[in-house]
Amino acid sequence: MCGIVGYTGPREAYPIVITGLKRLEYRGYDSTGVALLNGGLKVYKKKGRVADLEESIIGKDLHSNIGIGHTRWATHGEPSDRNAHPHTSKSGKLAMIHNGIIENYAQIKKELVNKGYAFTSDTDTEVLLNFIEDIKKNNECNLEEAVRVALKRITGAYCILLIDEDDPQTIIAARKGSPLVIGVGKGEHFLGSDASPMLEYTKEVVYVNDYELAIVRPDELILKNLGNEKITPFITKLDMELAAIEKGGYDHFMLKEIFEQPSTIHDCLRGRLDATAGTITMSGVMNNIEHFKNAQRIIIVACGTSWHAGLLAEYVIEELCRIPVEVEYASEFRYRNPIVNKGDIIIAISQSGETADTLVAIERAKENGAIIFGIVNVVGSSIARISDGGAYTHAGPEIGVASTKAFTGQLAVIMMMALKIAKEKGTITDERYNNLLMELDAVPEKVDAILKSADLLKAIAEKYKGAGDALFLGRGYNFPIALEGALKLKEISYIHAEGYPAAEMKHGPIALVDENLPVIFVATKDSYHEKIVSNMQEIKARKGKIIAIITEGDEVIPGLADDIFYVPAADEIIAPMLSTIPLQLLSYYVGIAKAVDVDKPRNLAKSVTVE
Ligand code: F6R
Repeated sequence: MCGIVGYTGPREAYPIVITGLKRLEYRGYDSTGVALLNGGLKVYKKKGRVADLEESIIGKDLHSNIGIGHTRWATHGEPSDRNAHPHTSKSGKLAMIHNGIIENYAQIKKELVNKGYAFTSDTDTEVLLNFIEDIKKNNECNLEEAVRVALKRITGAYCILLIDEDDPQTIIAARKGSPLVIGVGKGEHFLGSDASPMLEYTKEVVYVNDYELAIVRPDELILKNLGNEKITPFITKLDMELAAIEKGGYDHFMLKEIFEQPSTIHDCLRGRLDATAGTITMSGVMNNIEHFKNAQRIIIVACGTSWHAGLLAEYVIEELCRIPVEVEYASEFRYRNPIVNKGDIIIAISQSGETADTLVAIERAKENGAIIFGIVNVVGSSIARISDGGAYTHAGPEIGVASTKAFTGQLAVIMMMALKIAKEKGTITDERYNNLLMELDAVPEKVDAILKSADLLKAIAEKYKGAGDALFLGRGYNFPIALEGALKLKEISYIHAEGYPAAEMKHGPIALVDENLPVIFVATKDSYHEKIVSNMQEIKARKGKIIAIITEGDEVIPGLADDIFYVPAADEIIAPMLSTIPLQLLSYYVGIAKAVDVDKPRNLAKSVTVE
């Protein structure tokens, strides 16, 4: 959460910083600010989005060859001008931006207040900055040393960038728990929470690790640990183009990303799945195949949409591989003293690869000797790097705050993994294996066919946009999809929605059913079909409005439902990759009908790097 950008070099910094902030707005959009050095330190900041800041500083002299910028997702202190970053130190010479949370800020603040410091914001960031300045003054050291000393005293998570009026070409940066990428140019350097701010300038980047400090000048990048020892920066080549982070003619990133799914799923399968040859190539799985084959259990940790992918993984892995699977919310797992044994396999699922709870959960499990397998979208992210093995989802940058294409990418990886392990373990017949490979191979084409009927969902969305609540029901493999459908609708339309196993509905939620409640059934043809038809009858008897996602050729449900949407026939294990698409579209169109900013719904941020 929070996006940070920095630049030092011969170019004008402001346009680079402001464009970078626009690309990082998905990480938070409560306030925006920049700090430049232009005949002294100049800080411009404002509550609201990057565009609001831009408008408010038209006509100002923004010339500077160094700059830092921040887009905020509020933690300490409400979204406001005064809580916006950058913050300036008591002397007015230092400016700092911060992504993360300083947990012991209250104690440090007390110490500083006793020394006569006054604070203009409610943020932990201003406390850390003045703490650094205080150390610099008392220890008579340079800024780099002061930062190092300060960071040893604080607990919490941070990525910080600082500039100093007295050292006008240098950015000091440090990270622990919040991401930092440094782009290496010719005589210039770029800094960002991800690589998007630097894409058009350089393809060479350094991913800074936890407890590392960077001293960044136009022609110099020095990396050190907190013990003041130099570390050789490891340069990675970026494999990402600018077009991947632009809207490409769509009204919203979310819609673009939904429509990209035939190609993102194809990209995820490509090079791995060969349905004709009957093979799956996944080096991350094969490198750990003995562990998978002998595993007594697998624990999956994730949050949000990724947790829903994990729940489906439980169903699929248990069915195909006959390995017991537990699915844990990372935020619960990390705090509840779970039993993790040497050799246990932990699968971490994360789009961003930076979710704080997931990251810490796997760090803990790793300490206990577990093997960590990451299913991650963002290449080079923290979870990807800490994992012992893994598989990227290859969905490309996901900018819309609500996860769509990353989710289907996760499902594609999970299906391939389960099939690969089952084949190696001998828990699947050749016939079923080959059949599921063919089914998986056909998914991109079937998703494409679903997207061609998107307008039908627009009409359904119009009809139900006024609903105050919605219930999503599914059984078996479609239960996680019902959960995901409800989450999507909540996020994007602000309609209260619940996902439930269709049969469990009778144990409580059925009390909500009346003629105003839309009930969305994810009811593709599977072994539970007759059962879910009975559940539908129960809703109909209570006058609930039924919207059903069903398989082409279904002759029963059309007679029961108020609205239907067909998806192509597929094996019940593969069908969730199809039934999720209409639910994404439904949420999108309801959100649009309600004039919600679907790419940046209120209170949310894409990358949740605070616990
Ligand atoms: C919902 C959504 C979130 C994320 C969750 C985990 O649309 O995007 O629920 O799934 O914050 O994020 P990652 O997958 O980055 O760990």
